[in-house]
Amino acid sequence: MENAIKRHFFHHGKANTADEHDDCHWCQLRSFPTHLTAPVTVVNDSEAKSNVVLPPSFRFIDENQFGEGVERAEESFRSGCTCDDDTDCQYMGCLCLAELEDEADESEDERMGSVANLGPKKAYAYHTHGAKAGLLRSKLHRSKLPLYECHQGCSCSANCPNRVVERGRTVPLQIFLTENRGWGVRTQEAIKKGQFVDRYVGEIITSEEADRRRAASAISQRKDVYLFALDKFTDPASLDPRLRGPPLEVDGEFMSGPTRFINHSCDPNLRIFARIGDHADKHIHDLAFFAIKDIQKGEELTFDYVDGVSDDHDGNIEDMTRCLCGSSKCRKFLW
Ligand SMILES: C[S@@+](CC[C@H](N)C(=O)[O-])C[C@H]1O[C@@H](n2cnc3c(N)ncnc32)[C@H](O)[C@@H]1O
Ligand SMILES: [Zn+2]
Ligand SMILES: [Zn+2]
Ligand SMILES: [Zn+2]
Ligand SMILES: [Zn+2]
Ligand SMILES: [Zn+2]
Repeated sequence: MENAIKRHFFHHGKANTADEHDDCHWCQLRSFPTHLTAPVTVVNDSEAKSNVVLPPSFRFIDENQFGEGVERAEESFRSGCTCDDDTDCQYMGCLCLAELEDEADESEDERMGSVANLGPKKAYAYHTHGAKAGLLRSKLHRSKLPLYECHQGCSCSANCPNRVVERGRTVPLQIFLTENRGWGVRTQEAIKKGQFVDRYVGEIITSEEADRRRAASAISQRKDVYLFALDKFTDPASLDPRLRGPPLEVDGEFMSGPTRFINHSCDPNLRIFARIGDHADKHIHDLAFFAIKDIQKGEELTFDYVDGVSDDHDGNIEDMTRCLCGSSKCRKFLW
């Protein structure tokens, strides 16, 4: 049993243990709103490494924490769509989709669904009908376009089909000790290709603070695996000073959710997408993991840490970190 959980069982009943509850990974995970429907568990089944526990100072959180100098947009700048009917939020005309570039060609999936072609133009990112309803449309699996979703400020209901990420994780996950790559994450239920899995949350910090943290870390590339730049809407010519850059970054090393433990694979089953709700908050857009393959119950979740961005290795081969993803497409080195 994980030490933190042991502590939970043996000591928590006693008085004055509030601090201990606070530091207990099990209590942190139990406080997630999704705990009953999609719990996150932590196991170490390894006999050889039975003493290994999660870093004690790590903290599970389910919402981003804003660092110094990071804020949401003011109330007066916030806005949402005015759709009366939830189904309207799937089509051009919904204000939440107003910034979508007009997609010249409908995907094969959409052409097959003849009903969709008769009505107004479908624009949102998910399948509307049948067994695939709510799954990310295939043509987006390889794209880098952001996902525009409805949110709290919209007049549609919480059941609007365009609130997939907002509704949160529905899949129970397990953090487990892998044989050779530290902790990893596996799914406790089958996941369909195109299904939303979870967000990457952490401390949202300024780029100056991120640089300080990189410098403080012995090997900056090690730190880089926990830092994600929120740069999807960064544009030096933007009228919004917050989008002119450099972008804010999310650090999941010390505080994050289960996705912080997802390992790299050169042939991954997940991909990260930028997701935006309120358009006034583009500087703090979400990072959302979606499945790009059907994933079986018990399978390890992975994503490509590099995802097509080439990183010139000018260092020595001895300084490079070997990739242990084990796939036939392995590129051999992480960085
Ligand atoms: C974001 S963390 C993932 C969780 C990590 N395994 C842990 O125990 O905290 C990234 C680190 O995991 C390890 N890792 C992830 N994928 C790997 C891979 N394919 N090969 C070797 N090491 C990997 C590396 O040590 C890397 O710095
Ligand atoms: Zn506890
Ligand atoms: Zn809506
Ligand atoms: Zn709408
Ligand atoms: Zn909306
Ligand atoms: Zn690999």
